[in-house]
Amino acid sequence: MVLTLLGIESSCDDSAAAVVRSDRAVLSSVVEGQAALHAPFGGVVPEIAARAHAEKLDGCVARALAEAGVGLADLDAVAVTSGPGLIGGVLSGVMLARGIAAATGLPLVGVNHLAGHALTPRLTDGLEFPYLMLLVSGGHCQFLMVSGPGEFRRLGGTIDDAPGEAFDKVAKLLALPQPGGPPLEAEALKGDAKRFALPRPLLDRPGCDMSFSGLKTAVLRARDALIAEHGGLRRQDRADLCASFQAAVAAVLAEKTRRALAESEAPVLAVAGGVAANSVIRAALQGVCEKAGVGFTAPPLRLCTDNAAMIAWAGIEKLQAGLVDPADLTARPRWPL
Ligand code: KG4
Ligand code: ZN
Repeated sequence: MVLTLLGIESSCDDSAAAVVRSDRAVLSSVVEGQAALHAPFGGVVPEIAARAHAEKLDGCVARALAEAGVGLADLDAVAVTSGPGLIGGVLSGVMLARGIAAATGLPLVGVNHLAGHALTPRLTDGLEFPYLMLLVSGGHCQFLMVSGPGEFRRLGGTIDDAPGEAFDKVAKLLALPQPGGPPLEAEALKGDAKRFALPRPLLDRPGCDMSFSGLKTAVLRARDALIAEHGGLRRQDRADLCASFQAAVAAVLAEKTRRALAESEAPVLAVAGGVAANSVIRAALQGVCEKAGVGFTAPPLRLCTDNAAMIAWAGIEKLQAGLVDPADLTARPRWPL
């Protein structure tokens, strides 16, 4: 029997709702970002996010149902991100999902946001278990061996900043707009990646853990030295710094991926998260996979950045495994896989 689920996501700064079927059809996926609200503060402000979710989620759900051409009566369950994330936002989504479930009698499925990301290649590519997932975004950075809908083994991850966060902070240091990834990548195209010998943190240590905050500090030092020398940051210097920083992130991700593939013996690598949009990083990861003789897949960007289709899909996988949650489902700000 084909299942149809409504998914709701509100754990960070995107309010999202989607309708997805178990035959992998994404009937709708509505994402309303809040970047403009948070931009003046240089980062996501939890209180502003919570308020925006409370205001926008109802409308997202209404739009997702309308675009999918379904009503609540056509649904088999409601899936919602119940953690981890910013508690105010997660609560908005959970309370809305609980309300819909109470009003309709539909089963309620609480989804771990990270499980949503990790299971997305099964929605987009029909990928079979097992596979290695590298999640690289503004908020996440980890290797997960995915062996079943609820079977995740963490092989390592960042011990400080996520790579997207590092791109954003470095962009800020270099007076580039936010979010910093895309403008930094564009700037790097004009630069010399070999000009600055930036560190490759934790490459000297075994294992799959990573660190990106020292890299950001190294960029800050190099920038200040250039400013002291020339009385300002010259265009070419900035481009060279961007290219050198991007090359360092790509080198760390590539080497750690090589190790994670060797350790896990996974037949396929799937990458997800906003940073997977970076073409230099993507090419580096593809190169590692080719050398290791394993497959490579990256879901389309709109489904590998935060969205609710992945939550609906993870809900479908949970429901098919016979797992539903009680009507008083609670929000969990911390919820390791
Ligand atoms: O997955 P995402 O949309 O949101 C979460 O963090 O969950 O990822 C956003 C992050 C931001 O930090 C952004 O700067 C980064 O992904 N990003 C990029 C690129 N596009 C987006 N980083 C490097 N290169 C890019 N082309
Ligand atoms: Zn996410």
